[in-house]
Amino acid sequence: MKNKYVWCLGAGLMQVPVVEEIWNLGYSVIVSDGNDSAPCIDILRENDIFEHIDIFDIENHINALIKLQQPGGIDVAGTVCIGIDCPETAAAMQEYLGKPTAPRDVARICHNKAEFRKAMKVLGYPTPTVTDKLIVKTKTESSGSRGTVLYPDCGYLIEQRWEGTEHTVETLFDVNGKFWPCFITDRFFNYSRGFALETGLRHPSTLPSYIQRKAYQIAEELGRDLGINHGPFKLDIIVTEDGVRVIEATTRFSGGFDCQYLVPAATGKNILRAGIFTAIGEPICSIFGNPTHHRWNKVALSESLWPPVGKIVDIQGVEEAKKIEGVEHIIFRKNVGDIVEDYVDCTKRVCFIITSGNTEPEAWEAMDKAQNNIRIVIE
Ligand SMILES: Nc1ncnc2c1ncn2[C@@H]1O[C@H](COP(=O)(O)OP(=O)(O)O)[C@@H](O)[C@H]1O
Ligand SMILES: [Mg+2]
Repeated sequence: MKNKYVWCLGAGLMQVPVVEEIWNLGYSVIVSDGNDSAPCIDILRENDIFEHIDIFDIENHINALIKLQQPGGIDVAGTVCIGIDCPETAAAMQEYLGKPTAPRDVARICHNKAEFRKAMKVLGYPTPTVTDKLIVKTKTESSGSRGTVLYPDCGYLIEQRWEGTEHTVETLFDVNGKFWPCFITDRFFNYSRGFALETGLRHPSTLPSYIQRKAYQIAEELGRDLGINHGPFKLDIIVTEDGVRVIEATTRFSGGFDCQYLVPAATGKNILRAGIFTAIGEPICSIFGNPTHHRWNKVALSESLWPPVGKIVDIQGVEEAKKIEGVEHIIFRKNVGDIVEDYVDCTKRVCFIITSGNTEPEAWEAMDKAQNNIRIVIE
């Protein structure tokens, strides 16, 4: 029998579980990445295909699709964009294949922070005051333009800062256009050094159920207002005293192992499967990948280790830590020989440790044990 393929954009660590889920559904995999030593390439099976294409290079992705699907070639059933930020590439490929997707222009608008703010404003959603032209008056009682600095078209987006707790809201519009609230996570941040550094995640969210309902309601309304009928739709929100505020939205699933490992550990929900089903044009049924189907009610956490800046010369205790009860996954992004950089953004974290427990204290206990068991030696 001829193999059918699902195209997974990206071949990084966050696509490993996506590739595995594509196999679970009986498909072969095509992965594409600009990095030809990306982690998924090593795990590919005999019939799988690696395409060495930059994830943002839409033209060459379409060219590759055309080539692969020539008479006598293979069938590509759909494209998924999970844990990687190239939703426009996915939308273009899905449009080419005639498969369910968010409109390509919407995928692009969501990917651009300035365009997204504009769209939100036009649609009437609360938007932080945004400007790219600024005048700063450092003296409140002065004359002769003293202490006044103009920043015309500085190329930055300067906006009002919302204050509150941060959360990820993941949803899906299925092949029939039906909206599925998938999950909400709590995001832990450290803002103390003037950077928005995400340090961890918790699922289920501890937001009151009425706020979670509201967050899903906003996701559905915003998705429909943008003209999204199919595919994943993820919001980054801040819950402020004045209401739920959308910082960012995108037409893909998350990249912090939320949908890959955290939520499955807490609930058994198979969000990846639901996403793949939609991409290949299959309805979500109750047996396979119903994303709202809770199989158990646990609490899962994600955290990291924060060694000082320097070169990693040794990492000890990972295998023992993996055996600790409640430790679900330990994934290192940096290895021996790599440089630990200053933690100025979330891409600098060294690892992901995901634990679970029947209660939150149990999950924290497993996290503490895992963190204490691992030693990263820095030079
Ligand atoms: N208007 C805002 N008010 C408060 N915090 C914000 C705002 N915009 C961005 N942030 C902070 O910066 C982080 C990253 O912003 P975001 O727009 O989501 O970009 P990224 O693509 O890096 O995730 C957010 O998680 C939040 O902590
Ligand atoms: Mg964000």
